[in-house]
Amino acid sequence: MSKNFYITTPIYYPSAKPHMGHAYSSIVSDFFARLKKIQGYEVFFLTGTDEHGQKIQRAAEIEKKDPLKFCDEISKTFENLCKSLNLSNNDFIRTTEERHKKSVEHLWKVLEDKNEIYLSKYSGWYSVSDEAFYSNEEIEVIDGIKKSKSSGSKVEWVEEESYFFKLSKWQKPLLKFYEQNPKFILPKSRKNEVISFVKGGLKDLSISRKSFTWGIKVPSNTDHVIYVWLDALTNYLSALNYPDINDKFYKKFWPADVHIIGKDILRFHAIYWPAFLLAADINPPKRVYGHGWILSGDEKMSKSKGNILDPLEIINQYGLDPLRYYLLKEVSFGNDGNISNEKLESCINSDLANNYGNLCQRVISFCEKNIGLKIPKINDFDMEDLQILDNYKNNYEDLKIHIDNQNINFYLNFIIDQLFKANKYFNDQEPWKKKDDKKRLNTIVYVSLEIIRKISILLYPIIPQTALKVLNIFNIKESDIEFATILNDKYLLTEDRINKIEILFKKISK
Ligand code: MSP
Repeated sequence: MSKNFYITTPIYYPSAKPHMGHAYSSIVSDFFARLKKIQGYEVFFLTGTDEHGQKIQRAAEIEKKDPLKFCDEISKTFENLCKSLNLSNNDFIRTTEERHKKSVEHLWKVLEDKNEIYLSKYSGWYSVSDEAFYSNEEIEVIDGIKKSKSSGSKVEWVEEESYFFKLSKWQKPLLKFYEQNPKFILPKSRKNEVISFVKGGLKDLSISRKSFTWGIKVPSNTDHVIYVWLDALTNYLSALNYPDINDKFYKKFWPADVHIIGKDILRFHAIYWPAFLLAADINPPKRVYGHGWILSGDEKMSKSKGNILDPLEIINQYGLDPLRYYLLKEVSFGNDGNISNEKLESCINSDLANNYGNLCQRVISFCEKNIGLKIPKINDFDMEDLQILDNYKNNYEDLKIHIDNQNINFYLNFIIDQLFKANKYFNDQEPWKKKDDKKRLNTIVYVSLEIIRKISILLYPIIPQTALKVLNIFNIKESDIEFATILNDKYLLTEDRINKIEILFKKISK
């Protein structure tokens, strides 16, 4: 089994500054990247910006800016967001970089050489906002305006010479690929959606545009620019130094383990992308996970509705870890979810401050007062001790399986349950009444500290800053964190010094 793990976010359009939807895709991806890292994998975590196409060209024109300068400025805000979200990404790719251009041109030539591309004429509907072609059946008229039924964005009629990719011939191989790789598309509901779409028949896909210039030119015909989605999807290869398939990055990390994307861009990732790759004789990625949307109230965020949620505002008000925790816990992964100050505040108060914060505070302060700032002696474990410790062993294999199926909900529920059990254990054992039985008092404190350590390791991918503060109490550094050590009930060494604890989360008074 290879111990390499390649995970990607979508690359974001730098047409406007980042919003909560972008932050969500990135935080979820970071969660998996950190989890795999502490499981001992060498992780490559990629994010970046998607800078070509008509959408960006038009946005730059409105601002009267040169498109590259325009992208330089906004792409920077996405790069800064990586820092604000404490992402552990290894690279940030921009599709205007030379390394990417080289990779896209090469892929185009491979497809051309393999006779997968032909020149013809496109006439049909196009949404600049989605950078997507739509058939008549996918269009509806609302208030006299023609819109895509799925995204609601405005479409316009396009008629121009265009290169086509022979997508239709990949219908059967794709269906076979989905059958042979039953977990290629997750969650399951989205997989069914894609399969029924492909079964309905695939038309050849227009993969070049002639009526504007902002893009990578078709190598053999510079009147055309390459369709922005063929350009953008290739970023996942460019970052691994494709076309140099002997490069160590490429060899180590391709095919990608999982592309985390929003459900809005599933068709591109689950149909077009594997078709391009199969046609070019490149292995498709192992998985595409299409998550739901973060709604503002009950609606999708959009500039025109003026309901954009700014992640930086929330971070300034509540802190980063509470936001990360909220998004991973309260939004059931795979489904839509929303965020409101009220829900976020109650999540901070109940889960973070009361459950986790309080557990750490109580146990460590008790230890300091009664034993001193050191790990107590271990005595034989009682049944109650073993019962709580065994939860980790008994669920370990399941946790790993659920992580590999991107089942965040299982992982979070396990933590919440363990937090609850840990608080109950400390309450029920009443170590403050055991001052005459030092042996038992020591054991209760030891077990409680062990559990805090285990829970903090589990929480690290979700709330890395706070979990690290707690792990630092035991002098465990970020590079020392190992997921498998949650199996070890005697990890902490008697007499080792521990450090004082600071307040982890401030309760928000209403
Ligand atoms: N540039 C393309 C992706 C190319 S990937 C090869 C694109 N960019 S985007 O900026 O419009 O959106 C990227 C992703 O942001 C979406 O797929 C989704 O993951 C995330 N979100 C954008 N709005 C969102 C919400 N309201 N909620 C959750 N995520 C959404 O599409």
